[in-house]
This record gives sequence, structure tokens and C-alpha cells, in this order.
Amino acid sequence: MSSILLLTSSPRAESLSTPIAVDLAEKLKSQNPGSVIVRRDLAANPLPHIDDLFTGAIRKPPEARNAEETVAVETSDKLVSELLAADTIVISTGLINFNIYSSLKTWIDNVARAGLTFKYTESGPVGLATGKKVYVVLASGGVYSQGPAAPLNHAVPYLKSVLGFLGISDIETIYVEGLAFGPEAAEKAIDAAKSRVQEIALAA
Ligand SMILES: Cc1cc2nc3c(=O)[nH]c(=O)nc-3n(C[C@H](O)[C@H](O)[C@H](O)COP(=O)(O)O)c2cc1C
Repeated sequence: MSSILLLTSSPRAESLSTPIAVDLAEKLKSQNPGSVIVRRDLAANPLPHIDDLFTGAIRKPPEARNAEETVAVETSDKLVSELLAADTIVISTGLINFNIYSSLKTWIDNVARAGLTFKYTESGPVGLATGKKVYVVLASGGVYSQGPAAPLNHAVPYLKSVLGFLGISDIETIYVEGLAFGPEAAEKAIDAAKSRVQEIALAA
């Protein structure tokens, strides 16, 4: 069964990234009967930040962890399973101070696990979360896909780096950008993103 992992990270009721990502996931599901959407609203249900207990526990094999350490990695283990089971991942975020929402960063900190989603080898690290397609929906006040502000877009290069480290390189970004440039520009940006979602769904 095909699994679509939907990760939304905006805390805003008026989020512009969330509805586009939800729409994309639903359209992909309807194009693939039998597929399921596993939804994580990372803002409404924030994940635990990694802490001393967690960072110690993940360095031990499961059988060497005490009861407290086992509990400390339970959520992360579940998130890793969801990631590994997914064929398609739809991620949405706003550009926040030139990067992703911190709720999404916390998901990344929970799923980047040596031995589970990547491993170290003699020839360097190897990603283990292979064979997935990722769509990133990025909403921003300014324009960062191109032009003078592009070097300030740390969200897309970061997501490509960290997902690439986990073995995921097939990534498309759907920009919803220039939202701060007035209602007309915002409407145009939203329409362009919706059109791209439609195209992706029709090709799925
Ligand atoms: C705290 C904060 C920081 C932001 N930082 C940026 C930024 O660095 N660059 C930018 O273009 N827009 C920035 N914005 C605008 C957001 O990217 C924009 O509102 C976007 O729609 C947020 O995504 P959402 O609608 O899904 O919540 C910021 C907004 C907030 C609230």
C-alpha cells in the first residue's frame, strides 16, 4: 500500500503553505486508490525537542537502553517508521527568518537516526531512506526562488542537504512567494502554486 506522509508546520490559522500541501496530498491520494495519508501537524502537535536523555539513548543499541531511555526514543522510532514507510512526502513550511519553521526542524532532529535513516561507512555516510519523492511547499513574504534574495533562502538548500543525507534526492519545491507584495501578487502566487499542484496530481 502506498503511503503519503504529510508534514505541515505552520502554526497560523491563515497559513498559506498548509492548505496547498493538504490539497496536494489529497489529490495524490485520489490518483492512487488504496494509498493512505499519514498526517503530522507539527504545529498543533509539537514533537519533543531532542534532549540529553534522547541524544544518549540513540547512541546505544535498543537492548542496552534502560526503561527511561527506551521511552525517550519511542516517538522518534515511530516517526522513523512513518518516514521509511512513505513513498511520497509532502512537507509545508513558511520561510521563517530565512529558514523553516522550528516545528519542522524538530521533526528532522527526531528522524535523522544513525543506523535507521542513515549509516556511516568507510566511504562516508549513506542515506537509508531511499526511493521517495518529496514535495516541499514553501510560503514566503519575499521572492527567494530566484533574484537578489535567493542567497537568503536557507530553507530549500537546508532541506535538500538534510533529506539528501537521509538518501532522498528527488525533491520538488512549490514556491508560494511574494506574498508580502500586495493582494494581487499574493493571489498570483497562490494561483501559480495551485496550478502546479494540479499538474503534479494529473501526472501522478
Ligand atoms: C516570525 C516570522 C518570520 C518571517 N520571516 C520571513 C522571512 O525571513 N522571509 C520572508 O520572505 N518571509 C518571512 N515571513 C513571512 C512568512 O514566510 C509568510 O507569512 C508565510 O506565509 C508563512 O507561512 P504560513 O502562511 O504557511 O504560515 C515571516 C513571518 C513570520 C511570522
